[in-house]
Amino acid sequence: MEDRAQILRKMVANIYHPHSASIQGVKEETRDIKTLTLVFKDQEIQDHFTFQPGQFVLVSVFNCGEAPISISSSPTFSEGLQLSIKKMGLLTGEIHRYTEGEEVGLRGPYGNGFPLDELCGHNLLFVGGGIGLAPLRSLIQYVFSKRSEFGRVTVLYGARTPRDIVFKDDLAAWGREKDVKVLTTVYRDNPEWKGEVGPLSPLLEKAAISPSNTKAIICGHPAIISYVIFDLLKMGFAEDEIISTLERNMKCGVGKCGHCSIGSKFTCMHGPVFTYRQIKEFPSVL
Ligand SMILES: Cc1cc2nc3c(=O)[nH]c(=O)nc-3n(C[C@H](O)[C@H](O)[C@H](O)COP(=O)(O)OP(=O)(O)OC[C@H]3O[C@@H](n4cnc5c(N)ncnc54)[C@H](O)[C@@H]3O)c2cc1C
Ligand code: FES
Repeated sequence: MEDRAQILRKMVANIYHPHSASIQGVKEETRDIKTLTLVFKDQEIQDHFTFQPGQFVLVSVFNCGEAPISISSSPTFSEGLQLSIKKMGLLTGEIHRYTEGEEVGLRGPYGNGFPLDELCGHNLLFVGGGIGLAPLRSLIQYVFSKRSEFGRVTVLYGARTPRDIVFKDDLAAWGREKDVKVLTTVYRDNPEWKGEVGPLSPLLEKAAISPSNTKAIICGHPAIISYVIFDLLKMGFAEDEIISTLERNMKCGVGKCGHCSIGSKFTCMHGPVFTYRQIKEFPSVL
């Protein structure tokens, strides 16, 4: 007969099964983005839950259904599992009303995650727009936890206005690290803003990015992904050196329902992380 620990380990391994997680912390990043720190109610599940930067979970809320959300913290991050959620509609609107101690369901992790082995030993250029910095933050934290395995790090971030900048403390802390450059731009400034104004592209030049031994990881609105890829190709980046995450409507998260299909691939299983060489073969993605 199986003991409780064996049964729980199987449940953790069963990624189809949602687990209750309670909200331990809520951080208001911007007027419409909050970062939740979550802890699984069951200690066994909490102890065994593992994931890779770039993976996502399906978050369930009673009466609202499920939504895919990237994990915004690194598996090496001491403060635990974090999700950074932008208020969009039914489910995300409800989550924004939640406070500490309330519960959501989580199943996963799903998706391929970033190719950590391939990134190892390279300089890394991160380009994020808006809430697109969330999955990148997971990888950036991971890189800082294994700093000697990676080269120079550059983070270029764009937000609508200074009030819409997410992870302000992280951006500041990353910028103080050795061999790290962080540049932030806003599309519309306010009188207090002393930084860059305008699109992300000029920051590529300002940061003096060289394609040599560099991998670029981009996440944001498809329009941002599209023009940044265009610039990187012009600068001499190879198609395999450009990595991006794609968002598609999802239901099952496990390659069964077809909602997230893109060409012959399922974004939930084969993605959401793809190289530009793969992306350009997909029909009308960007
Ligand atoms: C792999 C993946 C990772 C994601 N990671 C994050 C994340 O880390 N943080 C985060 O805030 N969001 C993330 N999203 C987007 C998130 O899943 C949607 O915003 C969410 O499903 C909206 O649910 P809702 O019930 O609140 O909105 P709904 O009531 O379903 O929709 C409200 C409005 O939002 C629009 N909408 C719904 N989904 C999206 C979407 N994916 N992109 C743009 N508009 C959408 C709808 O068209 C509608 O106009 C991710 C999506 C995917 C596929
Ligand atoms: S979400 Fe069902 S196949 Fe991807």
